[in-house]
Amino acid sequence: MPIIITPTGQACGAVVTGLDLSQPLSPQTVAELRQAWLKHLVLSFPEQRLADDDLERFTLYFGPFGQDPFIKPIAGREHVIAIRRDAGETSSLFAESWHSDWSFQRTPPAGTCLYGITIPPHGGDTLFANQQLAWREMPRELRQRIEGLTAIHSAMGGYAPDGLYGEQDKAAGRSMAIEPSDAARDTCLHPLVRPHPETGEMGLFSCLGYIVGIDGMAQDEAIALLGELHGWQTREEFIYRHAWQPGTLVMWDNRSVLHCATGGYEGYDRLLHRTTIGAAAVAA
Ligand code: SIN
Repeated sequence: MPIIITPTGQACGAVVTGLDLSQPLSPQTVAELRQAWLKHLVLSFPEQRLADDDLERFTLYFGPFGQDPFIKPIAGREHVIAIRRDAGETSSLFAESWHSDWSFQRTPPAGTCLYGITIPPHGGDTLFANQQLAWREMPRELRQRIEGLTAIHSAMGGYAPDGLYGEQDKAAGRSMAIEPSDAARDTCLHPLVRPHPETGEMGLFSCLGYIVGIDGMAQDEAIALLGELHGWQTREEFIYRHAWQPGTLVMWDNRSVLHCATGGYEGYDRLLHRTTIGAAAVAA
């Protein structure tokens, strides 16, 4: 069966059909998928039937596993986490803020794979914002203000004991296996605008979700600039909205898109399994 890659017609993303991902893929197919991923930034593979072994095998075609801090893997697996929300859950929605996964790491992951298992009948779409397009379209005046700046990344707002997913949240009964820690207060620097390590395409990297300041800039000035930038990064014209079906696998490129979860499925369970594609280490 030929592989068919159909662009979504939105700011990024393509749908890939003609492949059964429960079977091993040839090196040629993996190379074709990698090119499509780098071009479209988000790929979705509908109508799959994947066990966790299949999800792990697919992930490893694109890099080593990344490290997932602060979320305990599912039982019996080291590299699969559950993105889960139970029907009666009242805790805040997980990952509702725009972010690039684990951007606070010294070597943030290249990508993420997310496989839909239990999908509510409505709501729960995942949004992706194309940060290469956002950079290309950015007004010159804003570009000039952010070029050359280095952002301070941290997970403290989410995963520190007093963060959004901290001790209070745990006590309130979140179904996801989040493990808050003081390690979330660590910080790490990355350029705000940087070339994609594989294609060289310039793009904005990460946003207010994990960026807590700008190196060398007064905090009130930095937060105002990051707020303005966030507004630009997440404009409607840069967004692809992914509507889930059970059995769809989505892989995205954390180096060139932001993503966030959405709600609208109160009273229904939602469960997806996630793996992280690691990146080559950044030179010291
Ligand atoms: C995530 O950020 O991995 C979760 C996205 C979602 O639940 O839609």
